[in-house]
Amino acid sequence: MMEKSFVMMKPDAVARRLMGKILTRFEEKGLQLKAIKLMTISEDLAKEHYGEHSEKPFFNDLVDYIISGPVLAMVIEGDDAISLIRKMVGATNPQEAELGTIRGDYGIQTGRNIIHASDAPESAEREIGLFFNEDEIVDYDMVD
Ligand code: CMP
Repeated sequence: MMEKSFVMMKPDAVARRLMGKILTRFEEKGLQLKAIKLMTISEDLAKEHYGEHSEKPFFNDLVDYIISGPVLAMVIEGDDAISLIRKMVGATNPQEAELGTIRGDYGIQTGRNIIHASDAPESAEREIGLFFNEDEIVDYDMVD
């Protein structure tokens, strides 16, 4: 089924100049970039995006980290894109992520884990709505 996922390169990916390499992985896989925006997240948006973790002990650190520098927010579409992108991203803890995944190849710490990707259709819809207006999502044909 065609799906859209919300994908966000976190401040460590931007600061370490990994954006191009990571974007290339999604392009080479055949996924379609529908929206992309370099932005610094407000504290309110960070807290809303990570609302499900508000009671966790790492919540404040997580919010501080995600607002510490710009992120690259994206909408990426493809066949079963949500689970496919989660597979490409790898486990939350980069120490446990398989080599060949984005976190497995570029990360070391859970608190600096390079990239976020939606975990289910409902969260994808919610997260896309938080970060993008309808008119920022672009429809166009891609050559197979
Ligand atoms: P993400 O997949 O973006 O969604 C929730 C984030 O919380 C996760 O990536 C990590 O960055 C962070 N996180 C999850 N577990 C921990 C933890 N035990 N310590 C610190 N950060 C965590």
